[in-house]
Amino acid sequence: MNRRVLIVGASRGLGLGLVARFLARGWDVTATVRRPSAALADLARMGPLRIETDLDIDDDAAVATLAASLAGVPDFDVVFVVAGVATQAGTPASLLPREVAGAVFQTNALSPIRFAEAFRRRVAPDGLIVLMTSKLGSVSLNQGGGWSSYRASKAALNTLARSFAGQHSGARWGLVLMHPGWVRTDLGGRRATLDVETSARGMVAVIEGQLGLRGCRFLDHAGATVPW
Ligand SMILES: NC(=O)c1ccc[n+]([C@@H]2O[C@H](COP(=O)([O-])OP(=O)(O)OC[C@H]3O[C@@H](n4cnc5c(N)ncnc54)[C@H](OP(=O)(O)O)[C@@H]3O)[C@@H](O)[C@H]2O)c1
Repeated sequence: MNRRVLIVGASRGLGLGLVARFLARGWDVTATVRRPSAALADLARMGPLRIETDLDIDDDAAVATLAASLAGVPDFDVVFVVAGVATQAGTPASLLPREVAGAVFQTNALSPIRFAEAFRRRVAPDGLIVLMTSKLGSVSLNQGGGWSSYRASKAALNTLARSFAGQHSGARWGLVLMHPGWVRTDLGGRRATLDVETSARGMVAVIEGQLGLRGCRFLDHAGATVPW
C-alpha cells in the first residue's frame, strides 16, 4: 500500500506544492481547502488525490466534520498542517488591532495544535505529525525583530507543539516543526530565495527520512536543526 499523507491548507503556495511533490513520490494524498481550488484539482492527474473542501482550520465544527468524513479511510503516515497567515505582518504587534493579532494567533498557533489533537489517533504507527512553523518563530535567532506578531504566533506554535509532544510522550508518532525556507508565495513575497518546488522537494525528503522517529524536532527544508 502507498504511504498516505493528509495535507491541511493546500489551495495554493506551499500546501499546493507539497501535494504535487508527495504525489510525484508515489504517496496517496488527501488535501483540504477552504474553497475549491482549480490548481489543486488539476493535480489529480498526477496520482491518487482526495480533496476535502470547507475546512477552515479555525472552525472546530469543520474539523470535526472532516474527521467524520475521513473515519473510514486507513490511517495517515503523515498529517501535515500547512495553513497559516501573515496578516498585517509589517505592523508592529503593539500597533496591530487586537482582533487582527488574535486572529493570527488563532490560525498560526492554536488551530494547528487543535487539529493535531483531533487527528493524533489517525496517525499510523511510526508516522509523523508535521506542523508548518517558521525560522522567524525561533526566539533565540530573533535579533532584528520585524514581523513581530507573525513571529510571536509561530513561537507560540512551537511552544504549544512541545507541550503537545510532552503530553503524548508515549505516542508512536513523532512531531516535526518544519521551516520551509524563505519561499516565493503570496505570503513569502517575490523577493524570497526559494521557489515552491525546491522547498517542497526538500521538505518531503526530510519527512521521508524522519518516518519512524519519535519525539519533537524543529527542522528546515534541508534537514538542518533550527534552534528554538
Ligand atoms: N512562504 C514562506 O517563505 C514561508 C516561510 C516560513 C513559513 N511559512 C509558512 O508556510 C505555510 C504556508 O505558507 P505559504 O507561503 O504557502 O502561504 P500562502 O501562499 O499565503 O498560502 C497560505 C495557505 O494557508 C491557507 N489558510 C490560511 N488560513 C487558513 C484557515 N483559517 N483555514 C484553512 N486554510 C487556511 C490558505 O488557504 P486560502 O487559499 O483559502 O486562503 C492557503 O492555502 C504557512 O504556515 C506559513 O506561515 C511560509
